[in-house]
Amino acid sequence: MDSLLIQGGVPLHGEVTISGAKNAVLPIMAATLLTAEKCVIHRAPNLTDVSFMGDILKSLGATVSIDGNSISIQAARLTGVGDYDLIRKMRGSICILGPLLARLHHARVSLPGGCVIGSRPIDLHRKGLEALGATITIESGYVVAHAPQLEGADIFLGGRAGPTVLGTANVMMAATLAKGTTVIESAACEPEITDLADFLIAMGAKITGAGSPTIRIHGVDQLHGAEHEVIPDRIEAATFAIAAAATNGEVTLKGARADHFGAVIDKLREAGVKIDRRGPDIVIKRGSELKPVDVTTMPYSGFPTDAQAQMMVLMALSPGTSIMTERIFESRFMHVSELARLGTDIAIEGPSSIVKGGRPMSGAPIMASDLRASAALVIAGMVARGETLVNRIYHLDRGYENIDTKLKMLGAKIERVEEP
Ligand code: EPZ
Repeated sequence: MDSLLIQGGVPLHGEVTISGAKNAVLPIMAATLLTAEKCVIHRAPNLTDVSFMGDILKSLGATVSIDGNSISIQAARLTGVGDYDLIRKMRGSICILGPLLARLHHARVSLPGGCVIGSRPIDLHRKGLEALGATITIESGYVVAHAPQLEGADIFLGGRAGPTVLGTANVMMAATLAKGTTVIESAACEPEITDLADFLIAMGAKITGAGSPTIRIHGVDQLHGAEHEVIPDRIEAATFAIAAAATNGEVTLKGARADHFGAVIDKLREAGVKIDRRGPDIVIKRGSELKPVDVTTMPYSGFPTDAQAQMMVLMALSPGTSIMTERIFESRFMHVSELARLGTDIAIEGPSSIVKGGRPMSGAPIMASDLRASAALVIAGMVARGETLVNRIYHLDRGYENIDTKLKMLGAKIERVEEP
């Protein structure tokens, strides 16, 4: 398993281009199952999760070709049974369920595993698809779904932690080919849902309200192929913005959408970080002394859970006490114990972490546990005095395109160490 060897204390300087959004491209790739015609997706990030989703679609009978950041997919002939092992490994694969059900009227996909950040139930996916007329059972680790004819319905999709992003995606995709009108209440409002809706509309779907808590879908008989450019990755943009502030550098984000990560920009400014717009570009530099801030993760447009770990590193540098509260997932503080190896003082109290910031960090070997925690550990390694080895960085490669190359271009002293 590869590691990243990092020499800390080097401020990041320069420009970085933000890649396409992982959490937009995965459901959009699944949406190509809704038509037998060819679809082309541009600005797709070169990530292991993307090639994984491509393998899953191939296992279902689609033809998939990835050419740099463009993916051509044609699901002319499909089986409804996905590769158990492939699907089980990637949570995002659950979003093939809705399209398969709508296209084939049956589907058998492995129940996606949980992961370190939480149990990841699919009860809301099931509630939404059953409301459209599907019968769904769990049989020896598979989700088995049947629906001779999907019928539009009014569906409330809010759960114990608020809306579900991939649940909204699944129901919206299934409803595009249902008979009649579907209204999804308490829909997820993330930009990735809006991007998926834009792609579905380009395929001929009739959808209004995407990006708001109420989405209306009028079913059509069939969808056609489409071409689409994926939105930039707001979590990658947030990650580089935090890295620029943490290393006391100055970085220009190119191709990012400031309106997609406004809550992060707001919190960074509250913490004393200077963030300016130069035309389409966003320039980040640390202004005055860093200040502690309190952060609570929320559904969009609140502070994103996917940027919580990275922000915690910045708070560990800010003299004073910051409270980070995680309201979306039940165990998303795996990075705290690894950050402690670098000298941080962070105490977990239920859904919150109490960060006593301003202590010096010194390098050490640390272990990545999940995608966003890995990014936080890399940021910490770039700040800590001396050498840090971040192990198991395959987590990183799932969600950040060429992150070590991009950081090196910004001046970071970072080397990928390939384990034999
Ligand atoms: C998406 O996951 C993202 N992944 C996650 O990003 C992101 O953190 C999450 O949305 C934020 O909500 C992709 O888009 C591939 P949810 P998703 O359903 O859709 C509970 C990353 O690092 N819930 O919105 O799986 C759930 O347990 C990843 O890029 C139910 O209770 O998340 C959680 O507490 C991590 N029942 C909350 O809702 C359900 O049926 C939000 O989960 C579904 C979810």
